[in-house]
Amino acid sequence: MVSVTDLQKEHPLFNERHEVPDRVSKGSHISSMAQYEKYYRESIENPESFWQQRANELLTWTKPFTKVFSGGFENGDVKWFEDGELNVSYNCLDRHAERTPDKVAIIWEGDSPNQVEHITYKQALEQTCRLANAMKELGVKRGESVCIYLPNCPTAAYAMLACARIGAPHSVVFAGFSADSLADRIRDSKSKLIITADQSTRGGKVIPLKQAVDDAVKKSDSVQHVLLLQNTGGKVHFEKGRDVWLHEAMEKQSTTCQPESMNAEDPLFYLYTSGSTGTPKGLVHTQGGYLLYAALTHLWVFDYRENDIYACVADVGWITGHSYIVYGPLCNGATTFMFEGLPTLPDAGRYWDMVQRHKITQFYTAPTAIRTLMKFDDTFVKRYDVTSLRVLGSVGEPINPESYNEVVGDKKCSIVDTYWQTESGGHLLTPLPGATPQKAGSASFAFFGIVPEGNSVSGVLCISKPWPGITRTIFNDHERYMKTYLNVYKNKYFTGDGVWKDQDGYHWITGRVDDVINVSGHRIGTSEVEGALVTHNKCAEAACVGVPHDVKGQAIFAYVILKENVEETPELLAELKGAVRTHIGPFATPDFVVIAPGLPKTRSGKIMRRLLRKIAAGELDQLGDTSTLADPHVLDLIIEKVKSLK
Ligand code: PRX
Repeated sequence: MVSVTDLQKEHPLFNERHEVPDRVSKGSHISSMAQYEKYYRESIENPESFWQQRANELLTWTKPFTKVFSGGFENGDVKWFEDGELNVSYNCLDRHAERTPDKVAIIWEGDSPNQVEHITYKQALEQTCRLANAMKELGVKRGESVCIYLPNCPTAAYAMLACARIGAPHSVVFAGFSADSLADRIRDSKSKLIITADQSTRGGKVIPLKQAVDDAVKKSDSVQHVLLLQNTGGKVHFEKGRDVWLHEAMEKQSTTCQPESMNAEDPLFYLYTSGSTGTPKGLVHTQGGYLLYAALTHLWVFDYRENDIYACVADVGWITGHSYIVYGPLCNGATTFMFEGLPTLPDAGRYWDMVQRHKITQFYTAPTAIRTLMKFDDTFVKRYDVTSLRVLGSVGEPINPESYNEVVGDKKCSIVDTYWQTESGGHLLTPLPGATPQKAGSASFAFFGIVPEGNSVSGVLCISKPWPGITRTIFNDHERYMKTYLNVYKNKYFTGDGVWKDQDGYHWITGRVDDVINVSGHRIGTSEVEGALVTHNKCAEAACVGVPHDVKGQAIFAYVILKENVEETPELLAELKGAVRTHIGPFATPDFVVIAPGLPKTRSGKIMRRLLRKIAAGELDQLGDTSTLADPHVLDLIIEKVKSLK
């Protein structure tokens, strides 16, 4: 087992702290560790008054709540502000459009740096209302789910907010998912309406979204209408009676739409995510608690201030985009930046060119993007003026902040290495830019209201008190919710991650302790990839593991057993990768597919993945105990095979 001493050796900077730059600390929301500690204590000792105050400061309620919190982990019945009512789109749009109608709500940049749009709060509100009215006309009712399968563009934000306006929970599916994955999600959420686009372009490549929707709709019987954004103008199949052009549907609608008053605990959205087993889970997030948590974390973790230009370059298809492109920033009346292109196009300076042109103050991305850029020359950063930046955010995996801060921030920024998950709705462990001295690679301390507990034996991270942003259930499957998160350790929420706490109280995330792989910040369940591989008629069995990867953090390494008398050919290897692309999406394609002579199994037939992981990583001296294997000889054969490929 890894000890703290080993970790200290692994991280030479373990004890080195970087103080907060004065320019960041000055005037920040939380500007010292003493202030952090005071608020933190209050949030734990007196959570009701802490959250009541924030809920009244940051949100506008149509019916004030009288009860802050009830329920708990024991029965999985957590409720926040349960008798309060509000409308999320009112909070994110109307109240800012009333006060500052011409303030820019969204800056969008497309594939090319010449594609730029500035959308004011007034315009965003009008578009959202038109879309909400169009959805109503198509028969969408309060409580009925709507599937959104769109590129990372302003229409995606309008669609989410329009759903919130009429009380229809949305289920956004990342536009990189294949038709099969989309169909699974539509079937589970029983969406009657899908909002999509003809096509999207990324890096000049055309992605046929409508075609995927046509295929997915055939495999699901709930869909009655498809609202179609004319994005590229490319030719697509159009099914009369079912398909409706979005611009035509919106054109004829009024620019006002009465927001529904929703209960704080009504679902705001479902978002599907991968676990270690089974099909993706539709995590349910609520109107009141989720919005408050997204807004407060956005405000304090990025130290958002009135005239900032805040940028998160994630995609709205993931939780990062939900909380930190759309809901958190817009609830706070911020200008939020949306990026549909690639960081390396037209060249590796794209991010910093955008920072210079838009005078971006906070920049939030995944370490994998920074690592990709660091492979290029520093001059891609140095040729731009990025001095507007104050806070550099990172999410998805631990980051070595040296490169990020030295090259990009010129040591004048704070790095916030934010640790959280789809389930948590917002940040769980994170530095605060004006207060927390940075330790490279550590997500540092708990956000307010979060009580992390490392189990000292196994080093797993649990949270012992409910917070407003926690997912309340898995759509249609509360039993699975209990089993996955709340019944693993009594009265605690189990994150699925390992953690260590050092002598200064800093937390170090050691990665997933289950069969979930994190590829370039995309969370992928090994069982899903294995399921996709075995759909190939020549594949008998498959086992996938994650291996360390310089740029992506982890890559997928697949071991495949072929059916009898099937020969390994380069074409077959390509077809197996193709099966994953078809069933999940290109982002889940294994980097390595190895045709194995067998799999290491225990006598009871369980695959020993630990061994497969070590072999894939080339750590043959660390195989450990292999005595429980049914056939130890198979291990030698696999090792031989993998060695022959290197
Ligand atoms: O393993 C942790 C890792 O990403 C997982 C959550 O993935 P997902 O639900 O897709 O959400 C990603 C965006 C919030 C976690 O269980 N993870 C996330 N942030 C960090 C991290 N690992 C280490 N350090 C982080 N900062």
